[in-house]
Amino acid sequence: MTEPLVLGIETSCDETGVGIVRGHTLLADALASSVDEHARFGGVVPEVASRAHLEAIVPTMERALKDAGVTLADIDAIAVTAGPGLAGALLVGVAAAKGYALAAEKPIYGVNHLAAHVAVDTLEHGPLPEPAIALLVSGGHSSLLEVDDLATGVTPLGATIDDAAGEAFDKVARLLGMPFPGGPPIDRAAREGDPAAIPFPRGLTAPKAGPDGKPSAAHRFDFSFSGLKTAVARWVEARERLGEPVPVADVAASFQEAVCDVLVAKAVDACRDRGIETLVIGGGVAANSRLRAMAEERCARHGITVRAPRPKLCTDNGAMVAALGAHLVARGVAPSRLDLPADSAMPL
Ligand code: KG4
Ligand code: ZN
Repeated sequence: MTEPLVLGIETSCDETGVGIVRGHTLLADALASSVDEHARFGGVVPEVASRAHLEAIVPTMERALKDAGVTLADIDAIAVTAGPGLAGALLVGVAAAKGYALAAEKPIYGVNHLAAHVAVDTLEHGPLPEPAIALLVSGGHSSLLEVDDLATGVTPLGATIDDAAGEAFDKVARLLGMPFPGGPPIDRAAREGDPAAIPFPRGLTAPKAGPDGKPSAAHRFDFSFSGLKTAVARWVEARERLGEPVPVADVAASFQEAVCDVLVAKAVDACRDRGIETLVIGGGVAANSRLRAMAEERCARHGITVRAPRPKLCTDNGAMVAALGAHLVARGVAPSRLDLPADSAMPL
């Protein structure tokens, strides 16, 4: 039997994505982005994003089908991001998926955006060994997950208690006069800087003693990046007050090092605590070159295998949704009902 042909629709933030996969093989990954429309606001504007999805969804759908050389009639199932994400943005994708599913009489799968960020790696590296630990770092989320079964058993171990890692990149970039989204320009600037130039804080890495005097387990797998962002702002302001030039590359490299240090330390700790030997990294920040190198280096010391999809698949796209949909179909999971809701705060 040939593997199922699955189409995935993603509209949870500012990317309109339609991907088509056959099993673990990527056939098409069409993307339209409204990122330029948000750039002057320094962040994604929900109303602008919804409107852009509405304009882009049909042409992106048509492009994906053309690129894959198939028609809607050939598709076995349609998967769509049902949450979490921006409510109005999600609604466009969910409504479109329902329309196509109804018209072409196809089963529909409403999927979780975070699980899809993990599933996309299967398109590059094949089935994910389960259990695995997933480090999910994007503009909206920073989470450590235990993946016992990608289809049904993803357990959050910890998450950010304030800003997401990508949000910290975006805010620090803005402070340094770099464009939105800030991850890529910081990544580039950091290559010319010294990561040890400024000792920025590593949030939530030194557990305080609990009532019994032993180190408290509270926040062991959680993250905090807002203190780091403030520390960078104070450091830059202090230089400006003294009338001294800001060493942008050193600030970028030292900031990036602090973020990656915390992310990798906690991911390795989670793997060791659970006795798990696979770490999968996903989400937009997983495109960061230093994060990938540091994870490889430190995980190798502990016999942990790191899996990270190529940078283009780390940021939001339709292929990740199709990959998770294909996995659900292969595992025999029942489709969603046609009245499935969009859930902006969808839990895992
Ligand atoms: O997963 P994603 O495309 O959208 C969300 O679900 O949020 O992630 C976008 C985030 C942005 O904050 C962006 O600055 C960050 O990913 N990002 C990066 C890099 N490329 C994108 N952060 C650090 N280094 C990068 N190379
Ligand atoms: Zn995302």
